[in-house]
Amino acid sequence: DGPLIFLGLESSCDDSAAAVLCEGPVGTRVLSSVVRGQGRLHAAFGGVVPEIAARAHAEVLDLCVEEALAQAGVGPEKLNGLAVTAGPGLIGGVLAGVMTAKGLAAATGLPLWGVNHLAGHALTPRLTDDLPFPYLLLLVSGGHCQFLIAEGPDHFRRLGGTIDDAPGEAFDKVAKLLGLPQPGGPEIEREAAQGDPRRIPLPRPLLDREGCDLSFSGLKTAALRARDALVARAGGLRESDRRDLCAAFQLAVADILAEKSRRALAIYREAGPEVPALAVAGGVAANGAIRARLQDLCAREGVAFVAPPLALCTDNAAMIAWAGIERARAGIPADPAVVARPRWPL
Ligand code: KG4
Ligand code: ZN
Repeated sequence: DGPLIFLGLESSCDDSAAAVLCEGPVGTRVLSSVVRGQGRLHAAFGGVVPEIAARAHAEVLDLCVEEALAQAGVGPEKLNGLAVTAGPGLIGGVLAGVMTAKGLAAATGLPLWGVNHLAGHALTPRLTDDLPFPYLLLLVSGGHCQFLIAEGPDHFRRLGGTIDDAPGEAFDKVAKLLGLPQPGGPEIEREAAQGDPRRIPLPRPLLDREGCDLSFSGLKTAALRARDALVARAGGLRESDRRDLCAAFQLAVADILAEKSRRALAIYREAGPEVPALAVAGGVAANGAIRARLQDLCAREGVAFVAPPLALCTDNAAMIAWAGIERARAGIPADPAVVARPRWPL
């Protein structure tokens, strides 16, 4: 029942990451969280190249681990457990992480837990806040978008989700067609801050439909058409047009997420007791405008709003170490033979 110190590893997309967490009676501390992005390696290809990602993960994961331990001031002998992302994600990268973790487990004799990357995101609000189960979670990332009721470290009930693209994917594609670098989310947010969100009308797909399913592909296509129209009119994309389009796009995403969150809260309320909290997680939850909208909604609905700090919203290994600690505390047995899985729904 003493404090637990866990090392986490993450390599399911284009970030190699390692982190050390200490969980004890006075709360949980992130002792270190090292994230090495691969953005530059993929920049020329306009997207993540799985082969390149896998090789880069295999090369730098050991370094990330060394750095994480050094920054935490913790030797391997102080650790109580290891956790690694076992999926879903690009299989080469996931394999690199799982192999590294198994090597560490073999060398140290430490117990190893395989963690679902999405569970890592979904449990992060409990790492930073005193948030009991169950809670309503909006998971919004580059590959995923769903409303879940988080009932336990291993129990998530899905209320709805995207029927096509994830919002992060839409942010990235719109950024690309506007000539902005990847990942596109932070770039669009920066441009949008100086733009007029009301000048260019964009649709809010699926808002007329009941329930809390979402859609973003029509919005993406509409943004593409709006860009083409602006380019045709001015003979090129003017800076002010680009800013206005970014602002309009971001507002449309915020509108959709806020309205669907309102409905998810209503559905959750109908099903049972008072909703204690809405939590957000995933890379898109790093967006300030989206966070502000959800915060407003929760204030109006009388529901607590929990949003982890930005660095814990985007991919990191602290969330994986935390999910490992959650599993250990819940009595879920370690999994030394953990298998890498490209697909793994929550
Ligand atoms: O969770 P994450 O780091 O990786 C996974 O997809 O699992 O999410 C990455 C996504 C990217 O699509 C990125 O553009 C988006 O999160 N993102 C943002 C912001 N920061 C990251 N989207 C909107 N606004 C941001 N500030
Ligand atoms: Zn992620």
